[in-house]
Amino acid sequence: MKNQLKIPVHVAFIMDGNGRWAKKRFLPRTMGHKAGTENLRSIITYAKNIGIKHVTFYAFSTENWKRPKDEINALMNILLAYLRKETKAFLKEGAKLNIIGDMSSFPEELQNEVANSIEITKGNTTITVNIALNYSGRSEIVKGINEIISNDNVKAVTEESFNKYLYTKDIPDPDLLIRTSGELRLSNFLLWQLAYTELYFTDVFWPDFNEVEFEKALVEYTKRDRRFGGLSDD
Ligand code: FPP
Repeated sequence: MKNQLKIPVHVAFIMDGNGRWAKKRFLPRTMGHKAGTENLRSIITYAKNIGIKHVTFYAFSTENWKRPKDEINALMNILLAYLRKETKAFLKEGAKLNIIGDMSSFPEELQNEVANSIEITKGNTTITVNIALNYSGRSEIVKGINEIISNDNVKAVTEESFNKYLYTKDIPDPDLLIRTSGELRLSNFLLWQLAYTELYFTDVFWPDFNEVEFEKALVEYTKRDRRFGGLSDD
């Protein structure tokens, strides 16, 4: 089956359902986030092994600040521990870490750890792992517009030149977006970049999203006829 799969260049993930996964097991929500984080290594390794070049994970949205302080702190600590533990695995996989979003309001310790992991993995070229932190699609677009209007030399933009003002300027648009846990929305994720992306929704909660579930998404993606507004070849 794997040989017949069409392999996307870039897959983006909305890792939803950690809270409900935990609730189902009578565990605190943060245990769901922990379980969801433990999931990442096998997903990244699987992606790398089948030749995907970019994966992007929505880890913290600008709206997530509305959550209880305890949960926000737990998420920050989980991220910190993840970077401390996984940077070695990134090196083993040839994975480069990239962050999209505005980390300036994050704890300094976390910002430093991120900078360290980016520095250590910057030479890797097998796969890029983008993590969206304090990210939202609308704020990314507004940030771009503000940069343009503060630059007196720019009189007009094209779609191509506007791309350069986005966090994703060095990354191709996602071919496939996967959202877990049965929610059917984009939640302010990569609004500009998802224009022609294939969308895949599954009821599986993120901590249960494994290689088998990933392959199901790729089987579905393989069946899609991507026309980009044009007509099919056949
Ligand atoms: C959505 O589940 C998940 C999040 C808001 C956070 C995702 C974060 C992680 C998996 C951990 C950190 C990430 C990295 C990259 C180390 P939810 O809490 O909205 O679940 P619910 O909808 O069931 O309540």
